[in-house]
Amino acid sequence: MLMQTKPNLTLSREDFPTDFTWGVATSSFQIEGATHTDGRGASVWDTFCEQPGAIADGSNGSIACDHYHRYEEDLDLMARLGVNAYRFSMSWPRVQPDGRGAWNEAGFAFYERLIQGLLQRGIQVHITLNHWDMPQALQEAGGWANRETCGYFVAYALEVARRFGRYTQSLCTHNEPWVIAVLGHELGVFAPGLKSRKTAMLVSHHLLLSHGMAVKAIREAGIKLELGIVLNLSPIYPASDSEADLQKAKIDDGLNARWYLDPLCYGRYPEDVLSHLGDDAPTFSPEDMATIAQPMDFVGVNYYTRNFSSSGNPWDVNSTGNEVTDMGWEVYPEGLTELLCRLHQEYGIQCLRVTENGAAFKDEMVDGQIDDERRESYLREHIRATHDAMAQGVPVDAYFAWSLMDNFEWASGYEKRFGLIHVDYPSLKRTPKRSAKWYQQFLKA
Ligand code: NOJ
Repeated sequence: MLMQTKPNLTLSREDFPTDFTWGVATSSFQIEGATHTDGRGASVWDTFCEQPGAIADGSNGSIACDHYHRYEEDLDLMARLGVNAYRFSMSWPRVQPDGRGAWNEAGFAFYERLIQGLLQRGIQVHITLNHWDMPQALQEAGGWANRETCGYFVAYALEVARRFGRYTQSLCTHNEPWVIAVLGHELGVFAPGLKSRKTAMLVSHHLLLSHGMAVKAIREAGIKLELGIVLNLSPIYPASDSEADLQKAKIDDGLNARWYLDPLCYGRYPEDVLSHLGDDAPTFSPEDMATIAQPMDFVGVNYYTRNFSSSGNPWDVNSTGNEVTDMGWEVYPEGLTELLCRLHQEYGIQCLRVTENGAAFKDEMVDGQIDDERRESYLREHIRATHDAMAQGVPVDAYFAWSLMDNFEWASGYEKRFGLIHVDYPSLKRTPKRSAKWYQQFLKA
């Protein structure tokens, strides 16, 4: 499906295949709120938010966007946007409060209502099983560092697939395993807030293993739906052409990208990363590696920026001269094209999806309007970057903007806004921004 590149012209939806999936994405902990409602159990993020200093504005997810109670309004907003797909995550402790044992029917009923509401509006269902809010009860038993968690995850995955599989287009096992492992267990800036590289690497192995086990189990149960995983990837460049920086960039790419892609696609960990890790590397069997490498129906890519690696001083990203978002992330759409091409060429991945892409900016409401021109242009340029990869023959079949609405941005709390729709937290009023109107126009074409 080779498409023409249109260098300076405005792209429209018609420049993409007619069956291309256009969506928006969210995750449970970031939008739902209702953390104590209808029998939901605690998640590691509820606990993490209680640690003094963990969240920039001292907030938590107990109300968030109150999507649990306002989902009908949010479904209507999505329908008005004109998207044909919605990527959201299920809160494991909402449907299984302890992460093992009894199911919580009230929790499943919420997702049933949400899914029916999507289908009634002609919007495809894309479910993520683990977008970080794992049950606190499992964390107390060792969390992702405990191999037994893999078995509990498979039971949860199977239950979701059995109940909702027939309504669901795709099921993603884990969202951004690198973030869970490294930010959560090595740097301690995300839940559960641990600081050990050895633990982080073991966690990454268990995330990969549980992914493979879940995919295998769902297939063996004969449930037909697209199965895959979502990775946070960005091209990593050396800050200079010194040998030390080149080596640093190579190992950083190894730890962020190849550590996940090599086992998923080839059933092996990269040798150079294993020797770099030394004693911190996890122990694993050949059977584990074969399990991880289940064929996948898609690989999801969350792309926001590129990165630089330096063996010396931290590289100052501002010095590229490019625009930087409110997260301090450089706006670099070419990186998305490069990444998609690499995944296709180097790993031979046959179905790629942009499962998240978006930008935080400081939005200002003037006369009830938010003129977020920079977010609009960010989205436009990254949709173009996606198109550029497709024009080079890369099989991409979906694009999801992050995010439907402003929400709880993890350790940054509510200070960073990624939404196409503004949320006024005191009143919970939703107001589509200029970027939402632009996306709506784009999708109307
Ligand atoms: C990726 C994560 O999946 C999502 O939860 C987060 O809000 C965005 N990045 C923006 O940081």
